[in-house]
Amino acid sequence: MVGTVVIRVMFACCRWAASTVMTRMNNIPSEEDPGTAVPALIPYWDLCNHSNGRVSTDYCHDPPSSICFAFRDFAPGEQFHIFYGVRPNAEFLLHNGFVDADNEHDAVAVRLGVSRGDPLHEPRARLLERLGVPASGLFYLHREGSPIDGSLFTFLRVFNMNAETLEHWLRVDNVGDLGSEQCDGLPAGLQLAAWRFLHTRVTLLLRLYPGTAEADRALLAAPPAPPPEGAADAPPPLTPRARMAVILRLGEKLILQRALRFATDKMHEQELLDQELKSQEIQEPVEQ
Ligand SMILES: *[C@@H]1O[C@H](CO)[C@@H](O)[C@H](O)[C@H]1NC(C)=O
Repeated sequence: MVGTVVIRVMFACCRWAASTVMTRMNNIPSEEDPGTAVPALIPYWDLCNHSNGRVSTDYCHDPPSSICFAFRDFAPGEQFHIFYGVRPNAEFLLHNGFVDADNEHDAVAVRLGVSRGDPLHEPRARLLERLGVPASGLFYLHREGSPIDGSLFTFLRVFNMNAETLEHWLRVDNVGDLGSEQCDGLPAGLQLAAWRFLHTRVTLLLRLYPGTAEADRALLAAPPAPPPEGAADAPPPLTPRARMAVILRLGEKLILQRALRFATDKMHEQELLDQELKSQEIQEPVEQ
């Protein structure tokens, strides 16, 4: 009995110590071989909290030191922040133990890949490789700016190409266009297939989340103090950790909903364009 308690306490301490050290580790050039990086602790600097901004800390060789600049003006007495880097909230939670409700780089990771069983796996993977896009891996839907980035535009199009189209894009020089929102010269139906594919994926992802965004907002708006006596029906207040989990979940739902609206708009736009093209094709022989 006593033994079990000791082991539990030791494990809790060990877990705390490991997380404390690992969330504060930073790579600096090694003293013996400046070409290789070694993990180090940087006391005091590692106390700084994160906020939106830009990376403003670098390593200086002469004299060997880490130098941190303020990335904006901070008033006397104001808390000094540094920018931890471009990370979605899910990664902040995992690596740093917090989520930032204002994280302008928040994103939802989506795992996508070309199946090995796909008869066109080889040319698809070759075209993606030419563009530096993984044939299988994580892609991101973004909270700000375009919900879809160049890698995902490329993947969605290449994933839906037939043999002939793949062959064409493997030959041409303007292959980089596949990563732009506006990409000319794609065969009819391909864009629509790409948007439909995205729409389906995002719909399925959204279904995995319990509750609505509205319900999450209500949970976060509830007072953090315990409910007054007699208010037995009031939901219990969120613990700080549950609160972080709800902020993360709400942020991800909103990102997915935004991506879904984007895919829906694109689908409609493309359907109209395809219809227009079709009606022109029908009219042409009549005019001759
Ligand atoms: C960083 O944020 C935490 C949580 O809000 C706070 O307790 C701590 O004092 C802050 N650190 C500094 C150096 O201001």
